Amino acid sequence: MTNVGKLDFENPLNIPELVEPTVGPDGTKHFTLTMQTGTTEFLPGKKAETWGVNGSYLGPTVRVSRGDKVALDVVNNLPETSTLHWHGMKLPAVMDGGPHQMIEAGETWTPHWTIDQPSATTWYHPHLHGNTAQHVYRGLAGMFIIEDEDSKKLPSDYGVNDIPLIVQDKLFTSDGKLSENDDTTFGLLGDEILVNGTHDPFLKVTENQVRFRLLNGSNARAYNFGFADDRSFKLVANDAGLLQAPVTMDRFLLSPGERAEIVVEFEPGEETILHSYSSGAGIENGEFDLLKIVAADQLTESTPIAGQLSSVAPIEAPEGATVREFKMTMESMINDKKMDMYRIDEVVPAGTKEIWIINNFGWSHNFHIHNAAFRVLDVNDKQPAEYERGRKDTVYIPNGSTVRLAVEFGDYPDPNTPLMYHCHLLKHEDDGMMGQFLLVEPGTESQIPMELPKGGSEYQEHEQH
Ligand code: C2O
Ligand code: CU
Ligand code: CU
Repeated sequence: MTNVGKLDFENPLNIPELVEPTVGPDGTKHFTLTMQTGTTEFLPGKKAETWGVNGSYLGPTVRVSRGDKVALDVVNNLPETSTLHWHGMKLPAVMDGGPHQMIEAGETWTPHWTIDQPSATTWYHPHLHGNTAQHVYRGLAGMFIIEDEDSKKLPSDYGVNDIPLIVQDKLFTSDGKLSENDDTTFGLLGDEILVNGTHDPFLKVTENQVRFRLLNGSNARAYNFGFADDRSFKLVANDAGLLQAPVTMDRFLLSPGERAEIVVEFEPGEETILHSYSSGAGIENGEFDLLKIVAADQLTESTPIAGQLSSVAPIEAPEGATVREFKMTMESMINDKKMDMYRIDEVVPAGTKEIWIINNFGWSHNFHIHNAAFRVLDVNDKQPAEYERGRKDTVYIPNGSTVRLAVEFGDYPDPNTPLMYHCHLLKHEDDGMMGQFLLVEPGTESQIPMELPKGGSEYQEHEQH
């Protein structure tokens, strides 16, 4: 599959707008996110039915600072139940927006929490069990940016030198609608690319250094990002935070759900194309042109980026940390089990650090943990690439590999509300490649029932599409 040579780079890249909060008397920032249906003209003269947040496709960017109190009104104006999950966020489990926090059609859900984690590019998307792939593919996703003192060392002028790039592959029908044909092992693999919902996009930049926040918002495809002229750039952040120092490089792989931030330098008047190269990864099987970037004839000079970025120490598991092993298999199972909304698979003391070992016995997968950040210790006993040594929450697990993680868990104990770990290839996730864990008061682990009471109001069966 490829789109190389087929694009004209005619459409100005959509930059999702920043959603403006209203500020309450205690300083809480209130945001409204409305999930709704709409139509979008991806291809000229052709209308597609799509879903979006505060618009017809994708959603606005939420931007907050560490320490902020946030509250959201998540309004479901869709014709069916959904959820909205804050991927990469540390928060109480009842605010997580996972499969248990369902929002019925016509209802509003009002989560609130205090932002208490290092700066990062996180994101939001639905997580309705069995229907996540469809809801995300139709357009429900957006960025949720957390700033702190460290992140301000980098270009931070949103839409000018700090640009979100949500990359998604799509299959179009001949009349320009979104095809939902997901007949591959991995789910839907499209032959066309949207960046921030724009097909055939270009971006004009006006500064000599631009920070791009890349989010792989695709259902199944991985991208091996680079530039068509092979220029190098600095990778400055993984999913869940800044690196200790920038890494100069020219390629990096992101599997679905992963994010990275890069800083790219431009000369006046030049052009380049952000490209996805073949890498041999199982869920990346083609070359794609993603975005043409055109530098203005005169560029504003910005200060060189700092040599030291994150002031947060790398995640280390203590001596004697609990070790848990997870087996991923071709049948979309984890430890020989499919997801069960009523079964608790793991009980973890809140606020602790553990070693999680992920073994992949068949096909390509990745692994994401809610309410946690981790550092990749090794992949098949080897150190990960230099650019993958920062804080992460989602990691690619190549076929046949063993990946060891030092995981730092959030510290809001809740013995009643499970959090998820799962493959972020959305078809696999919907098929049940997901498990549930509780974060509990340390010392209470053995008293926790491994089942949730059935028939509670919080869950009812949903049909698979
Ligand atoms: Cu991005 Cu459990 O999800
Ligand atoms: Cu998540
Ligand atoms: Cu998978």
